[in-house]
Amino acid sequence: MRVVPTVAEMRRARQQMAGSVGLVPTMGALHEGHLSLVRHARAGDDTVVASIFVNPTQFGPGEDYARYPRDPDRDLALLRDLGTDVVFMPPVEEMYPEGFDTYVEVEKLTRVLEGAHRPGHFRGVATVVTKLFNIVQPHRAYFGQKDAQQLVVIRRLTRDLGLPVEVVGLPTVREPDGLAMSSRNAYLSPEERRAAPVLHRSLEAAEEMWRAGVRDASVVRQRMNEVLAAEPLARVDYVSVADAETLEELETAGRPALVSLAVQIGGTRLIDNVTLTP
Ligand code: PAJ
Repeated sequence: MRVVPTVAEMRRARQQMAGSVGLVPTMGALHEGHLSLVRHARAGDDTVVASIFVNPTQFGPGEDYARYPRDPDRDLALLRDLGTDVVFMPPVEEMYPEGFDTYVEVEKLTRVLEGAHRPGHFRGVATVVTKLFNIVQPHRAYFGQKDAQQLVVIRRLTRDLGLPVEVVGLPTVREPDGLAMSSRNAYLSPEERRAAPVLHRSLEAAEEMWRAGVRDASVVRQRMNEVLAAEPLARVDYVSVADAETLEELETAGRPALVSLAVQIGGTRLIDNVTLTP
């Protein structure tokens, strides 16, 4: 496995690759969710490139950029065990050199949900993913459904900019009690960790209503809020039942619906989602 710290060296490495190239972009602090993406890439592509880059432009002022968990040695060992070929791990100045002034903005899709609560977040994500696609030039890129809006935004920018990359979305990997794996779960105290599966329980309540034939989205949102209200450590940012493609809030969950939520547990903001398909 080769660890590549510069854009120039990544381009040279890319020129030597034959067959299909799969890219798994990450911010490191790898867990089973990330590793499932790498396994899919390993099964689907001739060469697997993973990137580790904690992207400063997608963190707001007051967010956790400085304390975001970083453990490159452990990450590299995990990636090596899975047969990753190349790890692109640039320092910040390599991705954002002095005078950097160009950003990619996906407009309507980023005004809602996570975008509404984290101004500038998706501008940072869209910019870094576009750069990674340009630098690595993968045939396929693998992303988790865990960050559902991110996946929708990346699909859209890929289509809108005509990037020759197939975007593959893969299911959310969960802990045994249902909590979606996330690098940010490391911030939770033991008590908060015990409270955190309430996100998943509220999504299960939504799925249950869906199976029982409920299609009124406001009834689904209300039931989810009831489940969340029973957990004293949980403070709800939003609960949403939206069109899975346009992310517009639905009145009736007829088309594929993205049910998503963001909840603060103590000082940690967690997100999760499920898709309901007719
Ligand atoms: P990061 O949070 O490190 O996640 C990297 C990839 O892993 C994303 O595609 C994310 O959706 C996926 N992932 C995270 N938790 C998962 C889980 N429990 N199950 C399945 N997949 C999971 O998302 C980012 O980094 C960044 O925004 C990035 C795309 C790298 C751009 O900086």
